[in-house]
Parts: sequence; C-alpha cells; structure tokens
Amino acid sequence: MSNETPHITIFDTTMRDGEQSPGASMTLNEKLELADLLETMKVDVIEAGFPAASQGDFEAVKQIAQRAEHAVICGLARSTPGDIDRCAEAVKHAARPRIHTFISTSPVHMKHKLKMGENAVLEAVGRSVTQARNHVEDVEWSPEDATRTEWEFLCRCVDAAITAGATTINIPDTVGYSHPEEYGALIRRLIETIPDSDKVVWSTHCHNDLGLAVANSLAGVANGARQVECTINGLGERAGNAALEEVVMGLRVREDTLPFSTSVDPQYLSQASTMVSRVTGFPVQFNKAIVGKNAFAHESGIHQDGMLKNAETYEIMRPEDVGVSKTSLVMGKHSGRHAFRDKLETIGYTLEDDELNDAFKRFKALADVKKHVFDDDIAALVDAQLSEAGQRVALEDLRVAAGMRGPQTADITLIVDGDTKTATSEGNGPVDAVFKAIRSAIPHKGKLDLFQVHTVTGGTDAQAKVTVRLDGDGFLATGVGAHPDTLVAAAKAYIQALNKLETRRAKQLAA
Ligand code: KIV
Ligand code: ZN
Repeated sequence: MSNETPHITIFDTTMRDGEQSPGASMTLNEKLELADLLETMKVDVIEAGFPAASQGDFEAVKQIAQRAEHAVICGLARSTPGDIDRCAEAVKHAARPRIHTFISTSPVHMKHKLKMGENAVLEAVGRSVTQARNHVEDVEWSPEDATRTEWEFLCRCVDAAITAGATTINIPDTVGYSHPEEYGALIRRLIETIPDSDKVVWSTHCHNDLGLAVANSLAGVANGARQVECTINGLGERAGNAALEEVVMGLRVREDTLPFSTSVDPQYLSQASTMVSRVTGFPVQFNKAIVGKNAFAHESGIHQDGMLKNAETYEIMRPEDVGVSKTSLVMGKHSGRHAFRDKLETIGYTLEDDELNDAFKRFKALADVKKHVFDDDIAALVDAQLSEAGQRVALEDLRVAAGMRGPQTADITLIVDGDTKTATSEGNGPVDAVFKAIRSAIPHKGKLDLFQVHTVTGGTDAQAKVTVRLDGDGFLATGVGAHPDTLVAAAKAYIQALNKLETRRAKQLAA
C-alpha cells in the first residue's frame, strides 16, 4: 500500500449480499473458511451476514466475529429494534464490530414495500442509528434505493443519520440503474451539500444490472467515496454487485488516473474467486476480468507473437499479480512428495501432515490415469478432499453400465457412518441411474435443483468437475466433485450436497 495516496476501504459483502443470489447459500464452515481468506488478503470490512434473517446467519456472523483478528466485522439490520439488537448480539464478539442499518428512501419503495410516509421513514432513520450507536461506535447507514430517491428527501435522511451518530454513509444503487457520471455526481453533490459530510466515510454499493457496477463504484471513488462495497466474483442479488477483484485491480493498475490505494493483497484474488465459485457452485465466466480462465490467455497469432517479444504488448497486469501461476503444466506420476508440497504452497494450500499424505495419494492416483497434472487439477483434487473430510456419507465404489441399448444401471457402495451400504438402480441414462442408486441407499427428500458439468483442464483425459445442488424444503445445498470419470464426479458431488442436507437435518432434529 502506498503511503501517499488516500486509502480506500474495501468492504466485502460476499457472505451477505452475495449470498442473497438465488442458489448461492454457503454452509457455516464454508463461511468461516472464506472469512479466514478475506482476512488473510487484508479486506478491511467483512459483512458476514444478516443476523435477524435466520439462526444460520446469526451463528455465522457471531463465529466470524469471534475469530477475526484485524477486519471490521459487520452485520446487516433493518431499522427495526429487534433487528438491531440481534445484530448487536452477533457482532459484539468482534474486536472491531460494526452495525449496518438501512431503510428504503425512494418513493416506489416507501409506497409499495414499506407502506410508510416520509415522516415515518425519517423518524426510523434517527431512531435506528441511535439504537445502533448505543451498542457500537461504528455504525453504517444506507438509504436503500438511494439513486431513485428524491434529492431533498435523501439529504434530510442522510443528515438525520449523521446527526444520530452514523460513521459511514453508504449510497446504494440498489437496482443498478445509474450511469457512472450520474453516480459520481450524486456522491460529490452529497458531500458538498450535507453539513457534516467530512465527519463520515462515504461509501459506494453498486449493483450490476446494466453491467456498470464497477464503473459506478470507481466514479464514486473519483468523487469522494472512500469505501467500496463489493463481492468476490461480483456475486449478488440479480446481476450481482461490483466485483472486488475488478475494483482492487482497477485502482491498482490505473493509479495514474485514480490515485488511491487499498490494503488488499491481489495475490489472493484468484484463490478467493476459486473458493467462492466452489462453495456456491456458480462457475466463473471464462472471459471474466481478472479471474476468468481466459483473462490472461492469448490466442491469436499476432497477440502470441507480441507476447513472446514483450509481455507488455498485450498485458496490462501480470497473471502472477493476481495469484495465477505462469506455468500451468506442473507434475506427473514421477513427481515426489516435496515437489507436491511446494506446488500446493504456490497455489495457496497449506495442509497438515495427514492431509498432505492423503492429498499426495490422491495426486498419485490421478497421475496414474492422467499424463499431465495441471495446477487446476491439483486445486480441484484438494478442494474435493477438504470438503469430504468428516462427512457422514462417502463414496466407496461405483460401477455403471451405459450405452445406447438400455437400461442404464448403477451399482453403488457407500460408507454411511462407518457402515457399508450398497444399492443398484436403473435410470433414464447413467447419471439418473447413479443418483437413483444413492437415493435408494439413503432415502431423502432433497430434489435435484442443478446439475452442471465442466472440465477442470483441456483434453479428453481431463478431470470432470460436477456441481450438484439439492433443494431440501427450500434449503439449498451445493456439492462439487472432481474425477477423471464424469459419473464418479457426479456421484461425489451429489453425496457432498446430500451430506450438507443431512447435517442440517440433524441440527434441526437436535434443536
Ligand atoms: O442493494 C442494497 O440496497 C443493499 C442495502 C441493504 C445496502 O444491499
Ligand atoms: Zn445490495
């Protein structure tokens, strides 16, 4: 971080706004894992959830607050007394707690959603911020749908929030409606108009409905905002939020025109993107800026020629800057344990000895069937291993009969709480047969909500990476499996999702 340029606070809301994406739910352990990584990469503020929304959200915010060492841990609350008390209860364990409270201020939201008039909303602003300030020193206030709010009323609300003690004022473009000049001008005009504007930090929160979330956030910064709310991979409601990796690199690469700095270590951006994609089951688009598979791939002859002569011809940043290692061809069956451990460290995994032994065995098994083992193969293998650890149900064996002349059948052997269970099923295709066999071995109510197949790398011997999402009475559980055999990967993904459903069911029964 440069000492000369003003600091921009990076506020990550992947676990709150990001998790509001349909299907993007994360388990408690996944949230803890992500929070640890966000701390390691030096994100300033982690919005860990919406404690009043569910017991699960409350627990996640509380546990993240308990273990965070440096980051401010923030919880979201509507302006009701119950929400604010619940949020305070969850964040109180943090070394640096923050309550973020909000209420809608646009005419359309007040009339149809809140059914409240201006005076009632204004009263709620002052009351909620005061209540939050009675719990913590650090209070953020947001006028939801700010960019469609009438100017005079917006100023009165912001003024009331500052008078009541808000320390950060966040201006959400909730529906992703703004254009950059407009959003930047709004931030500037607020800072110039509101009496005590220099007493608070101004923040951006931009949605991506018109694909402008990052551009709007940077326009906000250029006009006086000093906090940017964003999410890994741009996850979030509808088209998502401003992508954290794009904001961080947009500021870093163009420090000449945007002279600001962040504390985020960009070397972790690629790892964070992979982790969020794995736990949510949302694939990263190949041409996604900064973290997409093709973000640093040069295909055309002219570009390749230029790159060989000097990388600066077509690269404005280096893949290593964002944690993508340059050499993707890594190892084969003759690679040793030391080289394997070094490789794991370069791609961002530090394993305990027993985990390393297990990962090495899996690597050897993969290298036996796959000549070239790439970084992505190793990451997929370790991710699968870590998510399988401690699961009640594990895949022991699978045999499938497939082909044009049916019926397709699957024989499956599972280990359930240490006992062996077998089942055979026919299906409408091999995947259907595999999933039916699992269901027959472990009857459950989860319905298949998503089945998605990708390859981890190229080539016909590539590992398949399968994502399965199960819907158990509205609770969505995502599992990811990787294996050179697509059907084994599918079975592993299904079993991982099922384990999450079973864990939740057990918790509910216990409660
Ligand atoms: O988009 C939005 O308006 C929000 C607020 C709750 C900050 O997410
Ligand atoms: Zn939002």
